[in-house]
Amino acid sequence: MNTLSEKDLQEWLETESWDKVKNKVEKAGHILLPAMIDSHVHFRIPGGDYKEDWEWGSKAAIAGGICGVCDMPNTNPPIITKEVLDKKIDRVKKEEVDGFKDFHYLGVYGNREPDLRAKDEVVALKVYTGSSTGDLLVETEKGLEKVFKEWPGVIAVHAEDEKIIQENIARYADLNEPIKHSKIRSPEAAVSGIKKVLKFVKKFNRATYFCHVSTETELEVLVAAKEQGLPIYIEVTPHHLYLDESAYDEWGNFVKINPPLRTKKDNEALWLAVSSGIVDVIASDHAPHLPEEKALDYANAPAGVPGVGQILPLMLNAVSEGRLSLERLIECMHDNPKKIFGLKGLKNCGVVVDLKQENKILKEGLGTKCGWSPYEGMTLKGWPEWTIIDGQAMDMKVNQLKDI
Ligand code: DOR
Ligand code: ZN
Ligand code: ZN
Repeated sequence: MNTLSEKDLQEWLETESWDKVKNKVEKAGHILLPAMIDSHVHFRIPGGDYKEDWEWGSKAAIAGGICGVCDMPNTNPPIITKEVLDKKIDRVKKEEVDGFKDFHYLGVYGNREPDLRAKDEVVALKVYTGSSTGDLLVETEKGLEKVFKEWPGVIAVHAEDEKIIQENIARYADLNEPIKHSKIRSPEAAVSGIKKVLKFVKKFNRATYFCHVSTETELEVLVAAKEQGLPIYIEVTPHHLYLDESAYDEWGNFVKINPPLRTKKDNEALWLAVSSGIVDVIASDHAPHLPEEKALDYANAPAGVPGVGQILPLMLNAVSEGRLSLERLIECMHDNPKKIFGLKGLKNCGVVVDLKQENKILKEGLGTKCGWSPYEGMTLKGWPEWTIIDGQAMDMKVNQLKDI
């Protein structure tokens, strides 16, 4: 029977060990998971406050069962020096929900040296080998080699081949359908981007985190590289698992994302990689843009979809559908992020979930500043109920998220 009240939960959290709380929660028919981390978000500070900020972002995350995020550096100005990073972190601490766990990436572009002074304050250096939102692009081999030579920590890459992208832009100039995006940013562009990076992973043996792997062929290349013993990690996103190119029919440029939506066959290959243990991390790549921006024509609509508030319900739904085990979910959203990025301060943090609850994702309940989601209208089975931060069951107003 589902007999668990916030009062009971809070009392247990204050008087019992975490393991005892877990047992009691389970006896009451619910599940207590450890801290769920979204290792890839764009909370847009500085420069993008009009579409996302840390007050809205951290609230939406908590309401979706997430107690911490790793935030990307493609802001305006970009986070490429210790000075800009420190200023951003000061602001974040003031604006986020108290206790919310914030972690940060550092960026680099062109032929610059990464700012080593910021190394201990960030989880990784983020490198874009294909252009995306913002100006961060390390396009040349020389630039890439410098990054791998200089940066001693984890390197996270957005791997797409900019040369292939530019050639395809010319090639598909006359095509005026949103699917153009998937043709321009082809699977070949992604695979070639990965191969260029792997060359330097081999040469310098750096821990490298491949963001948003989206195709079956990339998986094959990365699995072969893992088998050779290279220190690499694979991230996938819910949108590359749940959505495919057919979503352009309903959503048009709203589902314009870098890397783009792929085929159903790719979705299935990714699900298999998630369930079998090939994938290390599931992260949302929460990249909010306003509806009026997304409604622009192909060339002007920015790329990205929001997702920090939906990633956990989507993955719990996948657990109830038998697509992955709860153990795998915990590995991909807690154990591995913690291990890969060395995340600290997650003790006494977690989330109580109910795998039997069924609800619809409603627009009114999204709780994000941009106010839309490509998952709107989906019915999911498995929902977070209380996010726990530092032993405190948060007033997550999760009911706003659900059709009850
Ligand atoms: O679609 C994307 N949006 N891909 C990225 O790499 C960046 C992101 C954003 O910041 O909007
Ligand atoms: Zn990216
Ligand atoms: Zn991203």
